Amino acid sequence: MSTAPHPGSGTPSDAYAGAVDHYTSPSRRDWVKREWEEPELVRVLDAAVRASANSSVRAPATTLDVLDVGCGTGVALELLRAAPSLRSPDAPSVRYLGIDLDPELLGVAAARFGDPKTRFLQADITDGIPDAPHDLYLSTGVPYSHLTHDELREVVTDVLRAARRHPRPTVLLIDVLGRYSIEWTLRWGQTRWDYRMSFFETDQEHSSTPMSTYGGAELDALLRQAAEVAGCELDRIELVDRSLVVGRHTATGEYTPGLRNYRQLLNDLADPDTLVEVADLRLGDVELPDAPAAVTRFFAGFVARWDARIELAQAEARGRDDREVAATLQPALAEDLQALELAAQPGLGVGHSLTATVVTTPGG
Ligand SMILES: C[S@@+](CC[C@H](N)C(=O)[O-])C[C@H]1O[C@@H](n2cnc3c(N)ncnc32)[C@H](O)[C@@H]1O
Repeated sequence: MSTAPHPGSGTPSDAYAGAVDHYTSPSRRDWVKREWEEPELVRVLDAAVRASANSSVRAPATTLDVLDVGCGTGVALELLRAAPSLRSPDAPSVRYLGIDLDPELLGVAAARFGDPKTRFLQADITDGIPDAPHDLYLSTGVPYSHLTHDELREVVTDVLRAARRHPRPTVLLIDVLGRYSIEWTLRWGQTRWDYRMSFFETDQEHSSTPMSTYGGAELDALLRQAAEVAGCELDRIELVDRSLVVGRHTATGEYTPGLRNYRQLLNDLADPDTLVEVADLRLGDVELPDAPAAVTRFFAGFVARWDARIELAQAEARGRDDREVAATLQPALAEDLQALELAAQPGLGVGHSLTATVVTTPGG
């Protein structure tokens, strides 16, 4: 595989101007990130580790070989290390290779994680995957959305060919942008469009880069086609939607006219010193375009449950002191809304991210 940036699917390096500022800024880890998105990602990573260890064929491996595609500053490695199944005394040790196009982000990663079992490499995943099969092919923060659908199918096919040479199950986490997020209702009709990281907190200008989005059925079909071409037997594919209401583009409203900043509203709601106008959290007045029936049905039920919980909070707050409402009722509401979202992840592409966990049979 090449070790130099490559113009292929639209040099994300421009789009990532300011990315180092963003990834190293303390404000990136707001309440939603720390208490909502990161624990959920740790859960997905933990399930992936357990799936890779779950082989009836061999004794458990003592080393878990991980390839992190589009690793950026190494966020996934940090979260992977927090996975409960890697923290027990008999857990395998992690041998990690992170690859990314962006030398600046890789520089931050290398400075953060200096140990002999952790390596970072500048490479373009569309130029091919490393030859040696890995147990776990991770991706977080939607790096695969930089690729076209065809490019993603080719990468997955290569990984699944490598899986056929691997004695244990191979696990892939494919993280992409959901097609039907409330953050971009103007783009539901398209599967690849110019996307700006306009939520980066930086002084640098935000340019755009083409990104691909996926509905659950589209991603599932692509993964099954790749398995067929590779001749690889899959044990299962699990799809999960993440960040349905709190995606970072709710802070910009760039692709949905009049969208309120739900992420900030939820951060404020959890803060016992800030009083929020809870009616602003309602979802019922977000105009949703035509979509596949399953998506429309999902939103009808989810929005009704979300708004009913808000109405209950409004009723509970009536006649109560504002400080008491901010300090007790609103943080409890934030937790309930989080639980509501986490219970509603049908894998349809209705969140900021859609994550597929693909597990092969041992030796594919
Ligand atoms: C939003 S960042 C996510 C970074 C990190 N995984 C995280 O969770 O924070 C997406 C990353 O994918 C990288 N990337 C995009 N296209 C790539 C490609 N073709 N090969 C390797 N890395 C790529 C970008 O440089 C960027 O660092």
